[in-house]
Order: sequence, then structure tokens, then C-alpha cells
Amino acid sequence: MNPSRDRIVPMLSEEQLQARIRELGIQIAADYAGKDVVVVGLLNGVYPFFADLTRAIELDFDIGFMQVSSYHGGTESTGEVKIVKDLDSAIQGRHCLVVEDIVDTGTTLFKVRNLLLDREPLSLKVCTLLDKPSRRKTQVPVDYIGFTIEDRFVVGYGLDLDGKFRNLPYVGIYQP
Ligand code: IMP
Ligand code: MG
Repeated sequence: MNPSRDRIVPMLSEEQLQARIRELGIQIAADYAGKDVVVVGLLNGVYPFFADLTRAIELDFDIGFMQVSSYHGGTESTGEVKIVKDLDSAIQGRHCLVVEDIVDTGTTLFKVRNLLLDREPLSLKVCTLLDKPSRRKTQVPVDYIGFTIEDRFVVGYGLDLDGKFRNLPYVGIYQP
């Protein structure tokens, strides 16, 4: 397969994404004011959202990254979750906010949540840019949601198809 930009139908424009991110930033800043917070991004997909969201949260906090892999090519998850890179920052006794690009089956987030909860943070919340609730196989709480979307495979703004399209500034539906 050779992924092509011609097959992408725009869904969320750069303006729509940025407007919603500003709202999330204001909400998160209000919720975490005065707290010791570590904002944890799940690589690779989160990178543009993480950069924009963290800059929209007008507080002083720590950041860290983790990388897990659940996809091994194509558009279907295998259900396996492997830790590729663990978090460097200590989260024990601190408020932890996990940032994801998309919650689909919930498998990835469920695993990451349990792993981080074992380290005894004061609180653990999750913020995702996109949520596909109709695809959920594992129930997992999500505290901040950018956009709830239908069961469509989307690319752009961090989301990839076989490693491509992460650098698009918008989100679009990939038509195979
Ligand atoms: P989950 O474990 O099924 O919830 O999947 C989470 C991960 O699958 C996300 O972090 C993405 O990397 C990937 N994923 C799920 N849906 C999509 C999609 O529509 N486009 C691109 N990646 C996706
Ligand atoms: Mg991802």
C-alpha cells in the first residue's frame, strides 16, 4: 500500500483544532491551578497536540513522554501493547495528566493508566484530542475530550497511516 494525500477528506480544520485546544487549555489551567502537575504525552501521535495544548495551559508544570505501541501497521489494532519508552519524571505524590491523540478501543490507555497508577500519583486524569467511543472494547475514564468522532480511520495532526501524514496541520478521514 502506498498512502496518498488524495485519499484524505478533511474533517477538522487547523482553525477548529486550535480553537478547541484553547478551550481545553483554559479548562485544564482552572482545574490544576496551584497544583504540582506532570503532563505526560504518549508518543508518537501526540506530538503536535501536546505542543499546542501545553502552550495553551497557562500554568507552570513538568512534562514527560512515554511511548507504547499497539499498532503494527494497517488500520486495525492487534490488542497488544508494548512499552517502547518509559517516563523519566517521577509522578509519585504529584498530579498526573496523560495526553493522548486518540482513544479508540481503549486498550492502550487502559494499560498506560494501570502502569502509572502503580506509581501512586496524587491524581491521574486523561486528555485526548479525539475520542471514538463506538470502538471501545475496554472501558477507561477520559476526563478531557477535544472532539468525539464516528468510527472512521483518521490521519493528520499526529495521527498516522503506516507512519505517514502525522505532519498535516488538520485531521482528515482516510478513504482506503
Ligand atoms: P486503542 O488502544 O485502540 O485505543 O488505540 C490507541 C492508538 O491507536 C492511538 O494512540 C493511535 O495511535 C491508534 N489509532 C486509533 N485509531 C486511529 C485512527 O483513526 N487513526 C490513526 N491512528 C489510530
Ligand atoms: Mg498513538
